[in-house]
Amino acid sequence: MKTLNLPHTDLTVSELIYGCMRIRGSWSDAPLTEEEITAGLRSVRAALDAGITFFDHADIYGRGRCEEIFGHLWKREGVSRDSLILQSKCGIRPGIGYDFRPDYIRQSVEGSLKRLQTDYLDILLLHRPDILMEPDAIAEVFAELKARGKVRCFGVSNFTPAAQRMLQSRLPDTLVTNQIRFGLGFINPVESWLVSGRSNEGHFTRGEGILEYCMEHRIRPQAYSPIVYGGILEPVSEDDPPALQGLKTALREMAEAKNTAPDVLALAWVLRHPAGIQPIIGTTRPERIRSAVQALDLPLSHEEWYQLFIAARGQALP
Ligand SMILES: NC(=O)c1ccc[n+]([C@@H]2O[C@H](COP(=O)([O-])OP(=O)(O)OC[C@H]3O[C@@H](n4cnc5c(N)ncnc54)[C@H](OP(=O)(O)O)[C@@H]3O)[C@@H](O)[C@H]2O)c1
Repeated sequence: MKTLNLPHTDLTVSELIYGCMRIRGSWSDAPLTEEEITAGLRSVRAALDAGITFFDHADIYGRGRCEEIFGHLWKREGVSRDSLILQSKCGIRPGIGYDFRPDYIRQSVEGSLKRLQTDYLDILLLHRPDILMEPDAIAEVFAELKARGKVRCFGVSNFTPAAQRMLQSRLPDTLVTNQIRFGLGFINPVESWLVSGRSNEGHFTRGEGILEYCMEHRIRPQAYSPIVYGGILEPVSEDDPPALQGLKTALREMAEAKNTAPDVLALAWVLRHPAGIQPIIGTTRPERIRSAVQALDLPLSHEEWYQLFIAARGQALP
């Protein structure tokens, strides 16, 4: 597994990230069963065996149960804390909205640390922008969490470049990532690089400028749901919109020609972008986790990248 020094930090991370959102398999608030813990840890073990050392969590995943499953890793699998990079998120407050008030951030971090059975998070992300966020108050609570050794560095998720720049203006340290939805099934962050050419441009404005901001500041973005829950890998259906039919066909044909699998090719497409995007793998199946890693060694030419991009957009470039 390739590793890299995460810019603006002293962290060494695996290039691929394993996302723990699905390791419980349900969002039920029932206590965990022994079978659920075993099944969840099997997925995590498969990621570790594939060389992934960077894990993504959020306080809300599985209503906290995903972090709880992960917390059993240390004793049951004999893994040492300092061999892994743990990232979690806070700020989505079910029943209320988004909440970046200092007390809630503090409370959320304490909850994550307890469930994960660790003393510190390597990275804390603000999950979705709280429109009422007070950046000076966030700066204070970040400084406090860092000084107390609870969080080593901070980043954001689903932020517009403007919101990220605004928060950054109050912080001494660079926000180390913006975790966004991106992949062949959700091309907005690169579609927005084209100044014109779509008839329904209004629909395609989300994602605008995020990759450019990250490249400008040498920040590694992270891509979640990179294969859109497997949706772009299903067989072509006559109910699919024409662009999706074209994308599925192009992915399958190019994968065959390159002697690889469509899911591997879809990840290679994300990795090919020069922003240095780190895809977050969401499958819970060990064999799919193992094959995802092949994407790191799958060369994709300039021409092939555009071929898939044009298939995904469902029309020629402007
Ligand atoms: N910041 C945010 O707002 C946000 C939002 C969503 C997710 N995330 C993070 O991103 C991670 C990944 O997201 P995701 O789970 O939506 O990603 P994904 O990789 O696009 O989707 C994974 C899902 O697709 C299914 N799937 C079907 N066919 C597949 C195939 N051939 N290969 C791989 N998977 C296939 C998987 O089922 P099986 O398990 O049966 O393989 C799994 O349910 C999450 O775990 C979480 O850490 C962040």
